[in-house]
Amino acid sequence: MNNYDRLAAQAERKLGPIRADLLGGLTGRVLEVGVGTGVNLPHYRNAAEVIGIDPSDVMRTTLTAKLEDPSFADRPPSVQVADARGEQLPFPDESFDAVVCTLVLCVVDDLDRTLTEIRRVLKPAGRLVFFEHVRNEGVVGVAQDLLTPLMRRALFGCRPNRRTLERMRALGFDVLISHYQLRPWPRPPANSPYFGGVATLRHRGEA
Ligand SMILES: C[S@@+](CC[C@H](N)C(=O)[O-])C[C@H]1O[C@@H](n2cnc3c(N)ncnc32)[C@H](O)[C@@H]1O
Repeated sequence: MNNYDRLAAQAERKLGPIRADLLGGLTGRVLEVGVGTGVNLPHYRNAAEVIGIDPSDVMRTTLTAKLEDPSFADRPPSVQVADARGEQLPFPDESFDAVVCTLVLCVVDDLDRTLTEIRRVLKPAGRLVFFEHVRNEGVVGVAQDLLTPLMRRALFGCRPNRRTLERMRALGFDVLISHYQLRPWPRPPANSPYFGGVATLRHRGEA
């Protein structure tokens, strides 16, 4: 088993239902940014096609092996995996019905470029579906600022102090946090709070 899957196994007991809730209703053509080992794939119940990108050779190799295993049947009818980064998506404008980011916007090198690329590849009525941890308020937020350089090194590039929802709003998304506001692991709030939800594109002329 891949190290990420081993580490994630316990958390998935809490995260699995959240993933199912967020992803189960997506239809059409879906792009998943930072697809990793494909933990989300069984939860796409209605998507016709999922394209997952990830720059990590290890993650892509693990996922490709899973996809070649006939026993991994619980997945969308069409799944493709590509070597790419969120900051530079190799897809035409307005080519996806949904883009999915779960536990990835904390690790991309350039959050603004990634959100701008997501905006570009989404169809006008498309949606960004996310589950991410963001910078906390008050003294915890200040502690996260101080801890971020350490945590980036210790946790594969994870930045606990990203103001992800603010950046979404600033870059033209309307953010609906309709689902979750929780800490999935009972541990100090180094990387919390977590938010899950949907962001839609704000169009020219809309406030
Ligand atoms: C914490 S894992 C999350 C995997 C999966 N999305 C999940 O929910 O379990 C973060 C993933 O993002 C990938 N990643 C890192 N930098 C990235 C980038 N710039 N663009 C896209 N994916 C990236 C990593 O290789 C890794 O597979």
